[in-house]
Amino acid sequence: MGQVTTFDVELGERSYPIFIGSGLIGKSDLLALYIKGKQVLLVTNTLVDPLYGTTVGSALSSFDLRTAVLPDGERYKTIETVTTLFDCLVKEKFDRGCTIVALGGGVVGDIAGFAAACYQRGVNFVQIPTTLLAQVDSSVGGKTGVNHPLGKNMIGAFYQPQCVIADTDTLMSLDDRQLAAGIAEVIKYGLIRDERFFGWIETNIEKLLSRDKEALVLAIENSCRMKAEIVALDEREAGQRALLNLGHTYGHAIEAALGYGTWLHGEAVAAGTCMAARQSRSMGWLSGGEVERIESLFRRAKLPVSPPVDIEVDQFLELMAVDKKVMGGVQRLILLQGIGTSVVYSELSRKDLRKNIAAELRP
Ligand code: NAD
Ligand code: GLY
Repeated sequence: MGQVTTFDVELGERSYPIFIGSGLIGKSDLLALYIKGKQVLLVTNTLVDPLYGTTVGSALSSFDLRTAVLPDGERYKTIETVTTLFDCLVKEKFDRGCTIVALGGGVVGDIAGFAAACYQRGVNFVQIPTTLLAQVDSSVGGKTGVNHPLGKNMIGAFYQPQCVIADTDTLMSLDDRQLAAGIAEVIKYGLIRDERFFGWIETNIEKLLSRDKEALVLAIENSCRMKAEIVALDEREAGQRALLNLGHTYGHAIEAALGYGTWLHGEAVAAGTCMAARQSRSMGWLSGGEVERIESLFRRAKLPVSPPVDIEVDQFLELMAVDKKVMGGVQRLILLQGIGTSVVYSELSRKDLRKNIAAELRP
């Protein structure tokens, strides 16, 4: 095992550590520190299980271990899939002292975390994220849940894990498209509150794309530190945690319109972030040069900068309105007032929003 970076998400008695490094998933002594009781349900999927199921299973061999292998894909992030986990937990007589371990990307983590939040009103939960997106974002901060056919992540709970174990070795088996999708969320952190980090990504994008370990660890560490700070201040998204949703209102509409899984979440976030940047430009908050700089970085990461043009404007607006940031019927968007400066904005008129969405979809 090489060097391990570790720091805490500070949430009082619910604080927990994030571990980032190589060779972590086989460390039985590390895992054992965060497992309560004897019963462990390892939740993974059909793609990740053959890659890492045995290593993690062996590290957990001193426990009474069951494994639930879910079908792979965003379209299975449903309440029905969570029910299959409840069925397994009940049938196997798992009690309140059990631990659920999520091994996989954001889909597995969100589903397993939601099952942990609900089963017997909450059982111990450990996150082992294996995609870049999950390591920089979804495994940290306690958002768990599933999609509703009419809206992304509409059913869920805030439920923090006992720890997050991000093993960078697992990123070597990711395909290039999934790696790029994770980079979209890394770019997001730079945009919302750290221009220097954005500049660092511009300088190091080729290293990230070629999976340079040192660059990946730095990107994961910076992203997680930023997320941990924001979550510590605003765990349940009463205020600034919403900034982490830059590009997501647009992106979720793209994902839902195309059918979950057609575009990857990170791809939809990339296009959505560029839409938010162009909206900000139309309000005079960003310069043309800044928008170009943002689009150029996403392009270099091989990510889309525009939505698919064959979505109807009305459908797009309707999907944007099914968003957890909507309050009292008012759409709240995360916009940019510079690279590294983001705001929650609720004053955009329906007319202006429609005009800009129409321009995006019928350029
Ligand atoms: P994903 O979980 O679907 O994983 C992407 C693909 O990579 C899947 O096919 C998966 O099986 C595969 N995979 C996972 N690990 C692998 C590995 N090491 N090697 C090879 N293949 C591997 O998608 P994702 O991008 O990880 O996560 C996206 C999901 O996360 C979305 O549902 C999104 O809504 C959610 N999300 C949640 C939060 C949160 O705060 N909870 C934040 C951001 C995103
Ligand atoms: N991914 C957004 C959040 O965790 O708040």
